[in-house]
Amino acid sequence: MQLNDKVIIITGGGQGLGRAMAEYLAGKGTKLALVDLNQERLDEAVAACKAQGVEARSYLCNVANEEQVIQTVNQIADDFGAINGLVNNAGILRDGLTIKIKDGEMTKLSLAQWQSVIDVNLTGVFLCTREVAAKMIELKNEGAIINISSISRAGNIGQANYSAAKAGVAADTVVWAKELARYGIRVAGVAPGFIETEMVASMKPEALERMTAGIPLRRMGKPAEIAHSVAYILENDYYTGRVLELDGGLRL
Ligand SMILES: NC(=O)c1ccc[n+]([C@@H]2O[C@H](COP(=O)([O-])OP(=O)(O)OC[C@H]3O[C@@H](n4cnc5c(N)ncnc54)[C@H](O)[C@@H]3O)[C@@H](O)[C@H]2O)c1
Repeated sequence: MQLNDKVIIITGGGQGLGRAMAEYLAGKGTKLALVDLNQERLDEAVAACKAQGVEARSYLCNVANEEQVIQTVNQIADDFGAINGLVNNAGILRDGLTIKIKDGEMTKLSLAQWQSVIDVNLTGVFLCTREVAAKMIELKNEGAIINISSISRAGNIGQANYSAAKAGVAADTVVWAKELARYGIRVAGVAPGFIETEMVASMKPEALERMTAGIPLRRMGKPAEIAHSVAYILENDYYTGRVLELDGGLRL
């Protein structure tokens, strides 16, 4: 797909990887609909895209809320008149061991910790994919949906909630690629390793140092490197049903 003048939605587009994707795609002439929970960050991201001469709009929406997702996708279609793609990038971390024993005392990963991550990182991806695919079919727009999974989909200690959600996203990428191909919609994923963003900044420094030491390329990835992969998948019409691993060679 040629990206110039196409309409791409990015969830979690206000900061981190989502914002890097938005700016990268703006550089290719893409029109952007940025979805996030934080209006201030959205305004900054939209301004950065507009500075590159493209149309960009912000949408306040919780991807885990069905009503809000339906309303937002309708609004985006009305505002732009077309939808050619979606990047399911919004995500959260609520790390913790399922069972932790410290100084003889046992704590458990709470159901709230489990559920919040499943709601945003898995259910949110389902809701956005469903609504955007339905709208693209209705509008007879072809294009691509990209799901941001993670290296943690392989199973990372302290991330029972996050690993489950990211593995689910990778599996459903295959499901939706098969289901939506007949409508001219490709569905693929990107599984980043450790990338320098605000999300990583919230990790403990010791844990971060251990991570970098184990990466063959000896550094974390850059947001622009993930954005480059997203652009590659959007542009390459034969890429579907696969998850591109971008992790500097790290294996968990
Ligand atoms: N940074 C990494 O190293 C890394 C590695 C692997 C995968 N990922 C994945 O990449 C994606 C982006 O990560 P990031 O590091 O840029 O994170 P981030 O925390 O910097 O940004 C995430 C954005 O998503 C938004 N968001 C969170 N919950 C939302 C919701 N319910 N509805 C709408 N927006 C919501 C936040 O407001 C924020 O702007 C996530 O899916 C994450 O799991 C990141």
